Amino acid sequence: MRTPVIAGNWKMHNTVAESLKLVRELKALVLGVGGVEIVVAPVFTALGAVAAEIKGSNIALSSQNVFWEEKGAYTGEIAPGMLKDVGCTYAIIGHSERRQYFGETDETVNKRVKATLKAGLTPIMCVGETLAEREGGKTLEIVSRQVTGGLAGLSSAEIDKLIIAYEPVWAIGTGKTATPEQAEEVHADIRRLVGEIAGPATAAGIRILYGGSVKADNVDILMSQADIDGALVGGAALQADSFARIVKFETK
Ligand code: 13P
Repeated sequence: MRTPVIAGNWKMHNTVAESLKLVRELKALVLGVGGVEIVVAPVFTALGAVAAEIKGSNIALSSQNVFWEEKGAYTGEIAPGMLKDVGCTYAIIGHSERRQYFGETDETVNKRVKATLKAGLTPIMCVGETLAEREGGKTLEIVSRQVTGGLAGLSSAEIDKLIIAYEPVWAIGTGKTATPEQAEEVHADIRRLVGEIAGPATAAGIRILYGGSVKADNVDILMSQADIDGALVGGAALQADSFARIVKFETK
């Protein structure tokens, strides 16, 4: 039984005060909701304040990125242990915006995943193809390369602790959701690949989230797919009511 995960990636939005307002509203709306891991990923500057606000609640905290070294002369970077110290239990890694604008590669994603696991945080490792790659019939090839590269050198026990998020780049912030069938096809392929890498038990247990224009009105059908175990939500996570509705998804 895979516990679903609904994670809100707030991206580069919200001051500390705005983040607190949003998470307070959310906390009230999801009070008592169980059977789902609810995660928010504010900007770094709001992590401490949001951590204090959600203490003792059913909402968990994630960063949007993490560096792989523990400490040292790496100006501007933040170590996994520092994220844990501020109250994070998850770290988003390798988001397509980081791959696109900040030069992330499968190799750096892999380093971040390893360091994050070592610090005892749960990595949410993102993969996904661009529109050109999908139109060129390369979706499964690209996603396989990203998954294989991201998981390189990890044991099955380590992979057990990790979450994968499939986010087709063409569906992010565009309002174009992958159809449930398109998403399910890739999710099933990722699960098959994890089985090849880490064995059937790990494949059966790993959570694979879908991301890309997930909204209150399409989450139910997406979550009804056999291999979709949650959602990584951008825009719709910035409003407490729409994110709360996504958290309260209903499968058919
Ligand atoms: P949108 O939900 O805004 O499409 O963003 C998805 C995403 O990138 C979440 O990480």
